[in-house]
Amino acid sequence: MAYTVLARKYRSTSFDNLVGQEAVSRTLTHAITSARVHHAYLFTGTRGVGKTSMARILARALNAPDTIENGPKPPDHDRYPPLDVQQRMAEAIMRGEDLNVIEIDGASNNRVEEARQLIQNAGLAPTDNARYKIYIIDEVHMLSTAAFNALLKTLEEPPAHVKFILCTTESHKVPATIQSRCQRFDFRSIPPSRIVKHLDFVLEQEGIEAQKDVVWQVAQIANGSMRDALSLLDRLIAAAPPPLTLSGLEDLLGLPPRQRVVKVVEAINGCDAATVLQEAGGLMETGIGLEQLVEVLIDRFRTLMLVRICGDKTDLLEMSDEERSAAAEQARGFDPASLVYLITLGESLLRNLRFSSQPRALLEACLVRMALADKMASVDAVLQDATPAKKKVSP
Ligand SMILES: Nc1ncnc2c1ncn2[C@@H]1O[C@H](COP(=O)(O)OP(=O)(O)OP(=O)(O)O)[C@@H](O)[C@H]1O
Ligand SMILES: [Mg+2]
Repeated sequence: MAYTVLARKYRSTSFDNLVGQEAVSRTLTHAITSARVHHAYLFTGTRGVGKTSMARILARALNAPDTIENGPKPPDHDRYPPLDVQQRMAEAIMRGEDLNVIEIDGASNNRVEEARQLIQNAGLAPTDNARYKIYIIDEVHMLSTAAFNALLKTLEEPPAHVKFILCTTESHKVPATIQSRCQRFDFRSIPPSRIVKHLDFVLEQEGIEAQKDVVWQVAQIANGSMRDALSLLDRLIAAAPPPLTLSGLEDLLGLPPRQRVVKVVEAINGCDAATVLQEAGGLMETGIGLEQLVEVLIDRFRTLMLVRICGDKTDLLEMSDEERSAAAEQARGFDPASLVYLITLGESLLRNLRFSSQPRALLEACLVRMALADKMASVDAVLQDATPAKKKVSP
């Protein structure tokens, strides 16, 4: 049987299983039950956060409301077609194949001729006793100016049986004239903790075991996009047999092995410059770039700083419980001021690396400085004391 990617297999089918978009779901649900559905919506937000899914769910709720368990019902839903007809419609809508829910890719249908065609078709009544004809225009920002202009009139006063749902990742490219004719919803990036929960659910359904850490790492890399998280999970499952592990993910993406980064920081804490250099050298041998190495170190120092200052339960950090306690353990060896110092040192190193003709030497010198920070500080103090105080120059 053909393999269906996880992102498609687990596309949300009702308002209450779209993760992280509760505010949009609530407003749309209320609009349906109170018969105040707008004729044009604009869904914006980064990739893979549920815009197209929400558009299909709204279309389903408008044309086949009885098929959504505990879903919102329009006041006149008893005048809708019988349940089996609605069921067929709902299935086709969720597959993106229903005749009355027309999905248009704005990128490839961006010309004015296509907009005119759309307007002409919109005038025709829906088929199969469906209540509405719903146009979902994805990537709407790709329409040409002429196409946008052609749509203005219809978008303002469409026939009663027509609804528009415009979706875009780049709302600033949608003309103000279009935006002001639509009700706009901003879709949130999904917090890692919510992504983790969804990934755990998907893994359980698939019967695949995974380490906690790897799921958190996938969620973090996805950067708010559920589709990206599910696609990465797909790659990981394809790459090696379960259980899914953090080292498997690191191999797949060429990420620095977490344990080695922790060891570098441990050696910095122990003022052990030799081990710092050794471990950092080992990391570079894995193919990790110098800048990337500094970035992961800064990130680790940040984690330790937050745990040290705000405690290991802080919600400023998104990580598994195991990682939290390991970070808390390591953070105990540092005082907050030295972590601040290490971060600023790393940050200025990052800037200097870009202009250095000897970046590796610069990096190694900085790592030694990090390891010997206490001693260096006292050398600095000695030097400062030895410098004759500057005389104030009177004007
Ligand atoms: N909020 C969410 N909750 C659960 N799954 C989601 C969510 N957002 C996205 N997904 C998953 O990602 C897939 C793609 O989502 P969708 O097509 O709705 O994203 P989109 O916002 O339209 O993205 P794009 O801007 O790239 O078109 C879905 O099939 C689903 O598996
Ligand atoms: Mg989409």
